[in-house]
Amino acid sequence: MRFLALIGALAIVAAIGAAVYFFGGFYSVAAQYDDPAPVNWALVQARTRSIDRHAKDQPPGDLQSRVEAGGRAFATRGCPTCHGAPGVEWAKFSEGLNPSPPDLKDVAKDLEPQQIFWVVKNGIRMTGMPSFAGAGAPDDEIWSIAAFVKKLPEVKEEDYKSWTTAAAPAGQSAAETPAPKP
Ligand code: HEC
Repeated sequence: MRFLALIGALAIVAAIGAAVYFFGGFYSVAAQYDDPAPVNWALVQARTRSIDRHAKDQPPGDLQSRVEAGGRAFATRGCPTCHGAPGVEWAKFSEGLNPSPPDLKDVAKDLEPQQIFWVVKNGIRMTGMPSFAGAGAPDDEIWSIAAFVKKLPEVKEEDYKSWTTAAAPAGQSAAETPAPKP
């Protein structure tokens, strides 16, 4: 009995300590510093497992035919700002995001199209990755974006440029055109 009482007392002390630490403002929310390695490891595990478990939607038919339209949507939705694109640098400010946005051509080979679809649709909480469903993008467009991202390691700069400038109004590149408001 005494042992159980000790465990109970320790749990209460730990709960009070955590409350003081977080609600007392001692925990730093600064984005400038990296998390300790074990925290970072745990967050990456949680993200990967969560995406694996949730990404169940199947692609609506052939994704190959959507790559070009996906490239245009990628540009107009603003993805290059944070992730860059073939021949397009990411905006400098995105280097200050924590976690930092990955170069998508490096991660595309490890991701299934349905996982890319899920991430783009839903976003990733507590990171800079927005939910594009929340930003008004329909599923059909998000599937095209997923098709393009999956293809990214092979997309040449010239192709990306021609796909994204063809759709833009004269004198303006598509990468600079803000997405239409939903
Ligand atoms: C404001 C910056 C920002 C914008 C805009 C943005 N992203 Fe992200 N994105 C991020 C960040 C930050 C992460 C990393 C999240 C993490 O580490 O958990 C991320 C992660 C991702 C991932 C997951 C990579 C992985 O390894 O699991 C994909 C896929 C992705 N973004 C695609 C896109 C696409 C496509 C768009 C445009 C429709 C887009 N992002 C727009 C910031 C952004």
